Amino acid sequence: MNRSEALGAVFFLSVGLLRGESGYDAWLRYERLSGAALDQYRQEVPAVLATLDESVVSFSARDEIVRGMRGMLGRTLRAESSVPQESAVVLGTLEEIRRAVPAWRLEASLAADAFWLKTVTAGRVNYIVITASNDRGLLYGAFALLRKIALGEPVANLDEREAPYAPIRWVNQWDNLDGSIERGYGGRSIFWENGRAREDLRRVGDYGRLLASLGINGCSINNVNANPRVLSPDFTPQIARIADALRPWGVRVAIAVDFGSPKSIGGLETFDPLDFKVAEWWKSRLDGIYQAIPDLAGIVLKADSEGRVGPSTYGRSHADAANVLARALKTHGGLLFYRGFVYDHHMDWNNPKNDRARAAYDNFHDLDGKFDDNVVIQIKNGPIDFQVREPASPLFGALEKTNEAIELQITQEYFGQAFHTVFLVPMWKEVLDFDTHAGNAMASTVKAVAAGKTFARPAGGFAGVANIGLDENWSGNQLSQANLYGYGRLAWNPDLSAKRILDEWTKLTFGADSKVDNTIAAIQLSSWRTYENYTGPLGLQTLTDIVGDHYSVNVEASERNGWGQWHRADENGVGMDRTVASGTGYIGQYRPAVAKMYESLETCPDDLLLFLHHVPYSYKLHSGKTVIQYIYDSHYEGADAVAEYVRQWKALRGRVDEQRYSQILAQLRYQAGQAIVWRDAVTTWFQRASKIVDAQGRAEHYPGRYEAESMKLDAYTVHDIAPAPAEDASGGKIVACTGAAVCTATLDYNGEPGWYTLNVEYFDLANGISHYRVFVGKQLVAEWSGDLRLPSRRMDAGASTRRVIPGIALRPGDEIRIEGRPDGREQAALDYLEIVREKN
Ligand code: GCU
Repeated sequence: MNRSEALGAVFFLSVGLLRGESGYDAWLRYERLSGAALDQYRQEVPAVLATLDESVVSFSARDEIVRGMRGMLGRTLRAESSVPQESAVVLGTLEEIRRAVPAWRLEASLAADAFWLKTVTAGRVNYIVITASNDRGLLYGAFALLRKIALGEPVANLDEREAPYAPIRWVNQWDNLDGSIERGYGGRSIFWENGRAREDLRRVGDYGRLLASLGINGCSINNVNANPRVLSPDFTPQIARIADALRPWGVRVAIAVDFGSPKSIGGLETFDPLDFKVAEWWKSRLDGIYQAIPDLAGIVLKADSEGRVGPSTYGRSHADAANVLARALKTHGGLLFYRGFVYDHHMDWNNPKNDRARAAYDNFHDLDGKFDDNVVIQIKNGPIDFQVREPASPLFGALEKTNEAIELQITQEYFGQAFHTVFLVPMWKEVLDFDTHAGNAMASTVKAVAAGKTFARPAGGFAGVANIGLDENWSGNQLSQANLYGYGRLAWNPDLSAKRILDEWTKLTFGADSKVDNTIAAIQLSSWRTYENYTGPLGLQTLTDIVGDHYSVNVEASERNGWGQWHRADENGVGMDRTVASGTGYIGQYRPAVAKMYESLETCPDDLLLFLHHVPYSYKLHSGKTVIQYIYDSHYEGADAVAEYVRQWKALRGRVDEQRYSQILAQLRYQAGQAIVWRDAVTTWFQRASKIVDAQGRAEHYPGRYEAESMKLDAYTVHDIAPAPAEDASGGKIVACTGAAVCTATLDYNGEPGWYTLNVEYFDLANGISHYRVFVGKQLVAEWSGDLRLPSRRMDAGASTRRVIPGIALRPGDEIRIEGRPDGREQAALDYLEIVREKN
């Protein structure tokens, strides 16, 4: 064995020692501590756990502490129900502790769900007290104590109080009763199957635990595009079963309903909210549900939006619609979330004054003060629809007498779904910290307004569209778990920095290896900017196929249709003119200080330029760069950044368990390939439209690239990529294997001898598993199957996939042959071969 073989052997040995992890435990792994940390916590954590409170939620807290300490310290605490004479962890409400040990004099006024971790010393005996005003607070305190230990923070002299920033900290599941999930990328629903609650709901309990660890206290369990059946009496037991599974974790269940239900399932002739029979129907139906689920948290309603019926059918207002449900919920303490996502999706593109971004404000602003106190208007972070960058919705600053909640999308609908790593917390922070200039300037950030602080509202907070499903790792992408974690932490405390949240998540999820932690931080914290750079910079929004999969690049898909996600790019310029002076007037919906900043090109931030203004391609940004050159440069920067993520991740081999290491590597490699597809498609499109060439000469000029259509073809035939846009394929053409069992594309290599990487760009569709082999001369150098399950539903850029074959020695005269065997309806299609010289 030579030296490098020996090193290799040691290396693989250490890889083998890291137990493969599926990701199921997410950030609640309770990995065993070691060394000095283990010794220290073993001394500081007492042997007894006294639980004074007897609710099911407190028992969850107790069991979690036992589980966590057993995992991290290898010790099983003795569970007792009264305060012992020896040191102990004591779990009890303020009231219970006051009764059990008045001498401790633990006095505090703690808000609902808040907790207090306090060390109490009595002689030589030490107590770690976890107290709260309610059992949910105890549970959150228990998780906080465990998190401290897992993060290596001191627990010796505790005196820490934490209160949630907002009372509403919910997740919304867009799960359909048939088990599919709208915009869900982590597998099928954990809640529903074949029109009923799943037989085995253990997974729901485990989800409740994850949510509780973040302080999330509500979960709406079905799609906002609601199936009316959820309200039929015979369905109520299904909801009740899910509520039972989440209750031990302090997570209250809510449901999304269809506004037409009084008619569609109630047998009435109308669903007019001002008809007393309709009001009666809502009341009696909700009374029935509350009988089975007394702690139902409330209802989410999407009305008059994207084809859902609403009050407009009867000429009634959103307030009429919201209040009829709110009144039926009121006696039960339930909340009605009325979604602010109301807009016309049949708008005339030809009218330059039309603007979907105006819709939320236009629909709700005049109704301020008309909603009952248990109505919450749930407002998406931006005025369009979870795009890669949008300004904060002007509606946040426009309601003073109405409760609000901010809706954030944890699931990555417009962010590469489960196939791209994008950490969303930095983006959410920007919106939450944005100053609306409403009310008193000290507290008019979006987070303060949404939480009800600015205008002293009785309710307010956060609703996050969740990203989980039955996949073993919950979200379909290990690194996307950080978005659920980050959402929950922000809903609890939006003042936490993105870095702090990410550091916590990484240590809890991957352990405390600083190289791992720094690498993941470098990737995750830059990932939003990276994704924006290759999918839609300067406020263009995600340039994806908005009428199809919301995944593939498609610059024109958002134009010339009624959906209103326009960016109005043509040969002269680009961007939506939303100014008051010459555009749609959208900017006038903001408070004057914000409107002033956005209206002027001088002060409008570059990142939002094209969202708010229409400018020529030669317009100079604040940096001095032209818009068109920025579009070119950012796309190259974005694609280069993902390639760098792959290199950074590879350096972690042996430091992360093999299972997660290789899953994340595969995901990042795929993303690196897609980023190039995006880069090429967008830069090609804009170069052709603007007729201004990339000053660096990169767009449509790819050294080392050989189009498949220009190779020697045997049985492969050349096609346009249409109906997909021409820029979806390099050179606009592809080759497909349609009439034969095997097709080949061959290239005679005539370049310099040396080491090369071969990149084969092929199309991986869902309806077949083609097989590929690559030969240099007679030697087989790579083979693989096109077996990814990509979101793309047709031959387009979203199906375009890169196979990287490194370390190939080439000599002039070599023949490189790609052999494709089609399968099913997949035609082993190829776009190009790229030959890239390797650095020595
Ligand atoms: C987006 C999304 C839909 C969803 C809608 C909503 O438009 O694509 O699937 O139903 O938002 O938030 O209601």
